[in-house]
Amino acid sequence: MFNSVIAGIGRYIPERVVTNDDLTQYMDTTNEWIIERTGIEERHYATKHKETTTTMGALAAERAIADAGIDKEDIDFIVFATLSPDYFFPGCGVLVQRELGINHCEMGAIDIRNQCSGFIYGLSVADQFVKTGMYKNVLLIGAEMHSMGMDFDTRGRNVSVIFGDGAGAVVLQPTEDPERGILTTHLHANGSYAEELALITPGSHGGYHGDIEKYGFPDNDHPGGIYLTQKMLDDHLIYPQMNGPLVFKTAVQKFPQVIHEALTKLNLSASDIDMLIPHQANLRISQFVQRVLKLSDDQVYNNIDKYGNTTAASIPIALSEAIDLGKVKEGDLVCLAAFGSGFTWGSALIRW
Ligand code: COA
Repeated sequence: MFNSVIAGIGRYIPERVVTNDDLTQYMDTTNEWIIERTGIEERHYATKHKETTTTMGALAAERAIADAGIDKEDIDFIVFATLSPDYFFPGCGVLVQRELGINHCEMGAIDIRNQCSGFIYGLSVADQFVKTGMYKNVLLIGAEMHSMGMDFDTRGRNVSVIFGDGAGAVVLQPTEDPERGILTTHLHANGSYAEELALITPGSHGGYHGDIEKYGFPDNDHPGGIYLTQKMLDDHLIYPQMNGPLVFKTAVQKFPQVIHEALTKLNLSASDIDMLIPHQANLRISQFVQRVLKLSDDQVYNNIDKYGNTTAASIPIALSEAIDLGKVKEGDLVCLAAFGSGFTWGSALIRW
């Protein structure tokens, strides 16, 4: 068995900056409310018609591939994590293969649908392929284009002020050094909370949950007609919905739990962490986790103030930025952790 190392990393942040004040032209909100509750000052939005989740992912991937010092033709498997794919299907994995111009190699490509935990889930999946020696260069991408799929009306403000666009990517390679690379990953889910942070329509549920009237499903035996209804459009049901207080309450329990689980597996404690890169869900959540784990400011990296919550992209963007700033050095113990829709959560410990 090998260990997987992050041999290359890259990020892409779209150019357009959208401040909290900019959002006030679309919805009833204030800069003060957003900063106080989330710590977010601005986020970036991709350019409509010109950029997609896939194109942003491809740009981050090219940087990760260059950083790894390999050619894109060397990639032998692709893992793409996103909740805002270009198409419902096929997934961004195959689209990014085409975008990178490596489709002639016909390597496998999968999509991970684990939302804010998508990067950690993807990392764990990629790690298994590399550990066993099956693949030598796995490209893992987390990318999101939230700006195209949120409700910018006041009724969607609890969600739309939080999320931003961006992409991050890593290349995983095997090493024979058992002390380096990904030391452990831990994944969890509890589907009883599925609708607490979700984009439910369009979808194929068709009234299964007794919500025939709410979604305007036709009450007849004719097949079809349930995927997207006029009522869904009229009532803004095509946008993500979130039970913010429940997400907050559960996140601050699960983050420390899953970090401790990883540390315990390796007989380590929180003080051994050199750098915690939490999924950038909300600055208040990260600060809470930092307090519980008794970590200093130097041991936690946050950049949500600049980018908002970029879901599957947030960890690779933050990790790549922390490396560029010299905050992650060789030999450091890096902890990645995430929580999000599903609910799903996970952690990884990496010896850099
Ligand atoms: N601007 C102004 N007011 C807003 C607002 C906004 N953007 N969004 C919600 N509000 C209002 C609500 O309408 C509500 O008003 P009311 O009391 O008149 O009904 C009030 O603020 C409180 O709403 P609530 O949802 O209880 O707010 P909160 O204090 O829980 O803060 C979040 C909302 C979303 C910031 C908070 O719940 C949160 O951060 N949750 C976690 C979200 C998260 O991390 N998601 C990503 C998971 S990966």
